[in-house]
Amino acid sequence: MENEKETEEKRKPVGIFDSGVGGISVVRQIVRILPSEDLYVFGDSANAPYGIRTLEEVRELTLSHVEAMIRENHVKAVVIACNTATSAAITALRRRYPTIPMIGIEPALKPAALFKQGGKVLVLATEMTIREEKYHELAKRFSDRAELIPLPAPRIVTLVEDGKHDSKEMDAYLAGLFQPYREAGIDAVVLGCTHFPFARAAISRYWGETVPVFDGAEGTARELKRRLTENDLRNPSEDRGKVVLENSGGIEKIRLSEQLLTL
Ligand code: DGL
Repeated sequence: MENEKETEEKRKPVGIFDSGVGGISVVRQIVRILPSEDLYVFGDSANAPYGIRTLEEVRELTLSHVEAMIRENHVKAVVIACNTATSAAITALRRRYPTIPMIGIEPALKPAALFKQGGKVLVLATEMTIREEKYHELAKRFSDRAELIPLPAPRIVTLVEDGKHDSKEMDAYLAGLFQPYREAGIDAVVLGCTHFPFARAAISRYWGETVPVFDGAEGTARELKRRLTENDLRNPSEDRGKVVLENSGGIEKIRLSEQLLTL
């Protein structure tokens, strides 16, 4: 029979971290795929956007917030629901917390590259994600399958942070951003930042429904499920888990996160 200590460990929450409200796009998938887990979600909107900061700044911010999450909320596993923070800090986090499952997110290049042999794939992400080693290693694996065109889109982050994910401003920004690629014959789009799925409607309005749009949220939720199962850490409860949302930007960002969670 399982002892009390083991059950207690399994009932601890999963910690989810993002630079702001974008991580909610991953939370949505985790709630769907792992409904019994309690989630503690922290967004660092007061310091967002991370994508235009230095690598050292993003690493420091991520390490200190995850450290607080582990110390104060006793999380049993951590999801870095931010492509930028993953590229800057996942190696350091895994080294620092070798016994806590640490799940990162990466741009969904695979399904986009496999969608069409020799296709052109627009990869939207932050400047930092595109610059870092992690992206280049991943891109190398698919470079013979498709032409990957990385494109930084920092304003999508700030528009989503301002609650303008489906707005005239978003349409106008995307029109300017995509204009140089309009005639390029884009076959697929990758959303390599967790804020971007909230702009999916506006992105599809531009490219049309025939251009598929991929993001890494579901893959990350499935990876969390796999890691919890492998470590025998799944919550045995049959009730729906509790989702606690916190944000360094205060009540306004918490309200926005609640709203984004219902989309
Ligand atoms: N949500 C983050 C990501 O997935 C970055 C947004 C930001 O620049 O803060 O990359």
